[in-house]
Amino acid sequence: MMIIAIDGPAASGKGTLAKRIADLWGLPCLDTGLLYRAVARNVGARGFKLNDVWAALAAARSLDPSELCDPALRGPKAGDGASIVARIPEVRAALLAYQRAFAGQPGGAVLDGRDIGTVVCPAADAKIYVTARPDVRAKRRYNEYIARSEPVTYEVILHDILKRDERDASRESAPMRPAQDACLLDTSDLDIEAAFDAAVGLIKRKIGQ
Ligand code: C5P
Repeated sequence: MMIIAIDGPAASGKGTLAKRIADLWGLPCLDTGLLYRAVARNVGARGFKLNDVWAALAAARSLDPSELCDPALRGPKAGDGASIVARIPEVRAALLAYQRAFAGQPGGAVLDGRDIGTVVCPAADAKIYVTARPDVRAKRRYNEYIARSEPVTYEVILHDILKRDERDASRESAPMRPAQDACLLDTSDLDIEAAFDAAVGLIKRKIGQ
């Protein structure tokens, strides 16, 4: 059984790393940002404001994991909305059981998010906190959106990333921060292969492989 926690700010590359690490060890992988993105989307779709605690809690409780595959959740608006519902402690609490059950599967799992190492899986076998300079993260996200023909500009993405980081790091409930025992990985000057190699090295050292 091995649980790997990958945290970090928006567009740090943690999602790509999490998937590749999961593939390497043959583990299931959960992108926990999608849970918050889906809650925000459903609150809006039902005609409520994103900071409506009751509506957000109802959306979190009725979330169906099969919704997480929807590609619409990966757009920029969904990310911004997610960070608004993610400030609500009741929403976080409602999503905790699903995340912990996922992590507790036989064999373990890889989870990526903001509070995996600090709150969801504090006893994870390995924790990595992935960072990169904001301009690098904005450029990567910009390239992703352009590849999917999303109408965006670099400036808007950079602004969104900085705003979201600030909101995620300053909230009272499970703020984004590295766990005390997390390994920091700055991917600013690394391509995906180099970042992957570095992450695998950190994990192997941690688990003594
Ligand atoms: O990782 P992603 O960009 O998809 O996350 C969207 C938002 O969901 C984040 O900005 C954050 O507010 C919230 N989130 C969170 N805790 C997690 C994962 C995501 O608060 N574990």
